[in-house]
Amino acid sequence: RTARFTLDPDFTVGPVDPRLYGSFVEHLGRCVYTGIHEPGHPAADEDGLRTDVLELVRELGVTAVRYPGGNFVSGHRWEDGVGPVEQRPRRLDVAWRSTETNRFGLSEFMAFLRKLGPRAEPMMAVNLGTRGITEAMDLVEYANHPGGTELSDRRIAHGDKDPFGIRLWCLGNEMDGTWQTGQKTAEEYGRLAAQTARALRRIDPDLELVACGSSARDLPTFAAWEATVLAETYEVVDHVSLHAYYEETDGDRDSFLASAVHMEAFIEEVIATCDHVGARLKSPKRLTLSFDEWNVWYQRRPNPHPFEDWQEAPRLLEDVYTVTDAVVLGTLVIALLRHADRIAVACLAQLVNVIAPIMTEPGGPSWRQTTFFPFAQASRHGRGTVLDVRVASPTYPTERYGDVPLLHATAVRGEDGGVTVFAVNRGRNAPLPLEVTLRGLGLDRVVEHSALADADPEARNTLDEPERVVPHPVAGTELVDGVLRAALEPMSWNVIRLA
Ligand code: AHR
Repeated sequence: RTARFTLDPDFTVGPVDPRLYGSFVEHLGRCVYTGIHEPGHPAADEDGLRTDVLELVRELGVTAVRYPGGNFVSGHRWEDGVGPVEQRPRRLDVAWRSTETNRFGLSEFMAFLRKLGPRAEPMMAVNLGTRGITEAMDLVEYANHPGGTELSDRRIAHGDKDPFGIRLWCLGNEMDGTWQTGQKTAEEYGRLAAQTARALRRIDPDLELVACGSSARDLPTFAAWEATVLAETYEVVDHVSLHAYYEETDGDRDSFLASAVHMEAFIEEVIATCDHVGARLKSPKRLTLSFDEWNVWYQRRPNPHPFEDWQEAPRLLEDVYTVTDAVVLGTLVIALLRHADRIAVACLAQLVNVIAPIMTEPGGPSWRQTTFFPFAQASRHGRGTVLDVRVASPTYPTERYGDVPLLHATAVRGEDGGVTVFAVNRGRNAPLPLEVTLRGLGLDRVVEHSALADADPEARNTLDEPERVVPHPVAGTELVDGVLRAALEPMSWNVIRLA
């Protein structure tokens, strides 16, 4: 009943693009307002940004941050969010049936990123729902052109002398979704995305562009959508997007713990579809993936916070995550890393309050949800080259995915030659012995074995008990004569660092 694999520096998946640890800030609920931005809060700085939240976001280690949506972007006019705050219009946000005050916009978002530090990079989405090529071009000109045109001079007059230099752009959001304002057929979207991409590249050929893939693998249009859209856009975009959310349904925890099986199949099917289109076009180019929305999200649960239509910043999608959710989130990070050769960007959706690793109270404290930890640890230690991990593991039966390995794992070799193993024991009832054979890595000691697990699978961090769940050190893990031996606690996320 031991799970095993071998690590060898000659067998690699590929380098980790730092943007795999991206996140997402949407104008939705309290992600922006009372999340990252709350003028008047005791911890707010001169820009109204909550410094307590900034600190937690830095600790989380996010890189690319997608903005401003999400469904929100498909009805958004970017001009509303620039210029003097007191002159900005209040608008109906039809995506979330809220009132958008526009007190926070592009300039404030860029200030937020600057304060996060040099590792944070913007990933802007343009509205291809209710808008089109001209408005996308205008936004790129406003944001990136140095000066001397009406739009770039407008930015300068608004106080942002230096261009923002935003490289990464999403061509719309979830344009296949019936819920999307301005939903399109694959043919309509493919044409529009290709034309927009060409126009934006005329402004700046070095932009990185993301075409919308499917909003979910389980939609009937999945794969056909990608094939049609990519037939139009293949040569003018760099990445295709994927979105996936997981939740436990009907008490089927074993299947929920195997969610990464679904995610990996999704990734591999999108890669296959991209390469199929590339082959048909006889193109030497290979697209990469932007998994720009992923998380655990309890979509089927009713909102426990009553709210009226057209409220400002209502409490929406404020899922409170358990230790079980955190272990599942860990398996999803592992799934992304295991495909690092083709994943250029991935964004945990979202950053604060809205299905988020960080929670805040208006006027009050902020704290880490259980899901904060696997993401933060992976971002901190999962930099370098992913090693090819072929797991031989005992399995357990699941209703949705059949027999699934108890062990889900990956390993990343850092620039200093040290290796970090990320491993999940999906088994709920028994510890899982792990044995890893190390070949040619020159490692001889365990620096740390940290685990996230709890006797109560429902344990969570809340306003009243914000540190109920935190990772703990694990004793007894050893590396002797090139073999790492550990015991993975039942239903646990593990980080084992070797030097
Ligand atoms: O992240 C929440 C929502 O999920 C986003 O607005 C949308 O793109 C997706 O459906």
